[in-house]
Amino acid sequence: MDNLKQGQGTLELIINRRTVRSYNQKQLTQKEIDTIIHGAMRAPTAGNLMLYTILQVTDQELKDKLAITCDNQPHIAKAPLILIFLADMQRWWDYFKICKTEELCNDLGEVFETPKEADLLLACCDALIAAQNAVIVAEALGIGSCYIGDIMENIEIHRKMFNLPQWVFPITMICFGYPKGTKEKIPLQPRFPQKFIKFLNKYKRLDEQDFQEMFLNFKRSYDIKKAENIGQKVYFAKMAADYTKEMRRSVRVAIRDWINSENNGGKCND
Ligand SMILES: Cc1cc2nc3c(=O)[nH]c(=O)nc-3n(C[C@H](O)[C@H](O)[C@H](O)COP(=O)(O)O)c2cc1C
Repeated sequence: MDNLKQGQGTLELIINRRTVRSYNQKQLTQKEIDTIIHGAMRAPTAGNLMLYTILQVTDQELKDKLAITCDNQPHIAKAPLILIFLADMQRWWDYFKICKTEELCNDLGEVFETPKEADLLLACCDALIAAQNAVIVAEALGIGSCYIGDIMENIEIHRKMFNLPQWVFPITMICFGYPKGTKEKIPLQPRFPQKFIKFLNKYKRLDEQDFQEMFLNFKRSYDIKKAENIGQKVYFAKMAADYTKEMRRSVRVAIRDWINSENNGGKCND
């Protein structure tokens, strides 16, 4: 019975979460921050390798700059706590070097493999799963949060700002803070009906009728480029937006550098 009650509390927490972008200036205590990090680090991690690093940004100048480099979002500068989740293979490759692993590969006549695309995706999985744990722990403490995907933009600037080496990629950033006013006043955003998101055994492509039903609860009000329906609106507002173009450029650079097999000591080529 106690387990059920506890479980219901966790479920309530998860299904009532909403993104919080406006923060009360009350600072988080060190204990709260440590609890959020502890929860993040208890997330599952591929092979228990912990292929991520969590970077806390406390310097106000850096926060102000992030508010600009991450697609001009002023709430970033005002967030009491900012954590950047870095997909990180550098730590292991630095350790392999210290362990003279390349020398052993040479002795054995084997190729010393450097990280490739798959390692990047796996490290991103680790970092994002840890990030979501942090969000849920914060929620349990009454602290709101907002993901910032735009941290993937401007890779050259972010590398310089945070001293990021070759095999470290900022996959997401999260702003945390106590909500200004009551969190419950922030509307819960609709989701598509489950039947369009969860399939049984086989993938199903949707037809026009499915899409009509799928969007019944969605209202998109962007007035953009003569768009007449949600598909056209979302395409122009999101997929063809300037920030998306910058994200695509930036991520392409990051992947190019990540898979560069010449072992240059993990430094970037900018
Ligand atoms: C990967 C990812 C990136 C996001 N990036 C941003 C962002 O840059 N700025 C922002 O204000 N919200 C961002 N969000 C929050 C989403 O806009 C938000 O989750 C979505 O609108 C649904 O609202 P809800 O979280 O309240 O359910 C991001 C969320 C995710 C998962």
